[in-house]
Amino acid sequence: MNKEIDEAVQGTTTVIKAENESVGKKLFLESYGCAMNFSDSEVVASILHKEGYSTTRNFEEADVILVNTCSIRDKAEQTVRQRLHLFKKQKRNKPNLIIGVLGCMAERLKDTLLEEEKLVDLVVGPDAYRDLPSLLVNVGGGQRSVNVLLSREETYADISPVRLGENGITAFISITRGCDNMCSFCVVPFTRGRERSRNPLSIVAEARELVKNGYKEVTLLGQNVDSYRWNISKKGEIENPAIPTISFAELMEMVAKVSPELRVRFSTSHPKDMTDEVLHMMAKYKNICNYIHLPVQSGSNDILKKMNRNHTVEWYLERIKSIERIIPNCGVSTDIITGFCDETEEDHQATLDLFKKVKFNLAYMYYYSERPKTLAERKFEDNVPQEVKKRRLSEIVAIHRQNALEVNQSKVGQTFEVLVESEPKKNKEQFGGRTTHNHYVVFPKEGLKKGDYINVKIVDCSSATLIGEVIN
Ligand code: SAH
Ligand code: SF4
Ligand code: F3S
Repeated sequence: MNKEIDEAVQGTTTVIKAENESVGKKLFLESYGCAMNFSDSEVVASILHKEGYSTTRNFEEADVILVNTCSIRDKAEQTVRQRLHLFKKQKRNKPNLIIGVLGCMAERLKDTLLEEEKLVDLVVGPDAYRDLPSLLVNVGGGQRSVNVLLSREETYADISPVRLGENGITAFISITRGCDNMCSFCVVPFTRGRERSRNPLSIVAEARELVKNGYKEVTLLGQNVDSYRWNISKKGEIENPAIPTISFAELMEMVAKVSPELRVRFSTSHPKDMTDEVLHMMAKYKNICNYIHLPVQSGSNDILKKMNRNHTVEWYLERIKSIERIIPNCGVSTDIITGFCDETEEDHQATLDLFKKVKFNLAYMYYYSERPKTLAERKFEDNVPQEVKKRRLSEIVAIHRQNALEVNQSKVGQTFEVLVESEPKKNKEQFGGRTTHNHYVVFPKEGLKKGDYINVKIVDCSSATLIGEVIN
């Protein structure tokens, strides 16, 4: 904790209390939602470790339970609510237990969770984690604490995250926070605030530290990684002539140069912003993986317009062509929403047609869930009946499964370099890892260890998994 600042803000006694009382306390930290939330939880763990907290995987022995939450769809929020009710029961046996909500639901629901439902003691938004130690001090004896201020600057650049992932091989690095895009269905700009980019030197330093600790893969994270920019204004002007400007492609190069043994991935790319410069950089460095997550959301121009995505289907297909031209065989995945406001059967058919044209490796498919405060909630009617949304979703899922199976079948007989990551959940006799194209492969464990790069010949597959034999 920065003592001087804290003393100025709170008075010395509080700070000393924090340092004494938190030592040895156990923290249970659970994350929902996207990789960015997971990455934020690693920052939270780091901040609280410094205060003397240790982490536990068993919530029953915790003194503090923090749930890092997601608001993207109603279902995501309901899942978190159920967990909070379970944790609240635990409080009956342990009255001093502190339960806190972090992340996007904290930002969105502030008072409801705290005052109306009285489900939690602590509510902390995504830009206020540095304040957690002092907020925790103020909680207790019926006292509740809250900080949901969003920031234009906070990137937690100087905080070295405590890695919570289990494999010790792959890790996330946040490169931007927030989002300025205002897609009409999306709650993220409201829960995460304005977009900002993190200092490139701190990103490279984090990658170096990971390599030193045996990590072999990093994924650079942002809601729209292509809009990463350092020392460049939103209008494209240089902010400070005395220091270099860095684009996303250049940042990728800086991270790729950290070590040829370190694989570099990134997510998420926005079709309107993904440039050929990025693709050429991917082609230039062997350790930048040949995989792009490029959400399309809909195959209909009318719906894309309503979604405020700022690109057309033709533009998307042109981007796919560029990918194929510059990085042959590149893996591509997408996100799709069915049943957005006013979506007709023709619009839906256009999405099915798109899925017939582009065979995605992976697709995250959802039906539309109206989110309070978004543009769509204010301007359009959520008028596609639930059963129609679900039927359309199942039709897209069916085409995608067939496509994914065909993509996987085309890999049988080929050999790929795979990074050994961890044992698959279902079979501890095997190891699993991914190809550069992000295809998941399982293979026999014998003689291998996590972090090895191996060559694997694909002998069989399902729509989700390749099955391989290790080749020496
Ligand atoms: N920044 C990323 C997406 C982040 S949210 C992008 O621009 O693509 C992850 C995915 O959740 C989105 O791509 C979208 O498919 C889905 N999603 C977001 N809001 C949703 C909503 N209101 N209902 C259903 N799905 C939604
Ligand atoms: Fe949401 Fe659009 Fe921003 Fe993605 S780009 S986080 S979908 S507003
Ligand atoms: Fe969910 Fe927030 Fe991520 S709404 S998807 S946790 S940015």
